[in-house]
Amino acid sequence: MKPDPSSLRPLASAQRLLVLTGAGVSAESGIPTFRGAGGLWREHKAEELATPQAFEQDPELIWEWYQWRRSICRGAEPNPAHRVIAALEGALPGFLLATQNVDGLHQRAGSTKLIALHGNIDDARCTACEHVFALPEHPPELPECPRCECLARPHILWFGESYWPGVLEASYAFAMSADAVLIVGTSGAVGPPAYLAVEAKRRGAFCVEVNPEVSALSEVVDLHLRTGAVEAMGWIAEAFGIESR
Ligand code: OAD
Repeated sequence: MKPDPSSLRPLASAQRLLVLTGAGVSAESGIPTFRGAGGLWREHKAEELATPQAFEQDPELIWEWYQWRRSICRGAEPNPAHRVIAALEGALPGFLLATQNVDGLHQRAGSTKLIALHGNIDDARCTACEHVFALPEHPPELPECPRCECLARPHILWFGESYWPGVLEASYAFAMSADAVLIVGTSGAVGPPAYLAVEAKRRGAFCVEVNPEVSALSEVVDLHLRTGAVEAMGWIAEAFGIESR
């Protein structure tokens, strides 16, 4: 149900807004989530596909799986929720988008003040020299580093791995001084990104969640918009008086 405009006022008067997104923001673009019905981790065992050990055992299989996912992402288009988030960036003096998504749809919608916490499905990283590079449109079965020709892996954060240096620090630095947080389409199941919202809230930020379901963050937030990202971000655009392209 559309919220009373006054309930969105603390969000719409924010000067420093942190937006935290998860797979749900891309659900209406046709990209499967991880934990929902038909979600990737329902159909596949995460530890068999998204760990360094799995890659070591069978790099071809892992690349094949990521190429399949990449083809879904490349065939999808940013939806109006991605576009409203990109428009918010230009409308506010302080803005950061911290996304757990690797699908590249925020970037394609025009977001630039963005931290991709879990990497990008269009990038690969050398297993020897760590060089990160953009994958060609049709990569070989086992992509190689263009610098040293060693085996490359998807530039994605896998289970059991640490976040890349600086990524969480920069996100937390912004979260600590945010006056509002907008959480869109995440289950909050992964600790460090979820704590961004928890910490910001502890420092007094007004927190709004967009999610048709209850999430691990629902208890923390001030306002829960229990609908899909496209509809809710339409309401939010209206509250900010912005138009998305
Ligand atoms: P999840 O699949 O855990 O959660 C997706 C959330 O989106 C759920 O809470 C859904 O209710 C919600 N949702 C579904 N449709 C929606 C819609 N139309 N609008 C808004 N919300 C909707 O995905 P994430 O929270 O992104 O990490 O998962 C976090 C991380 O866990 C991922 O980045 C991935 C995964 O393992 C790595 O791969 C490192």
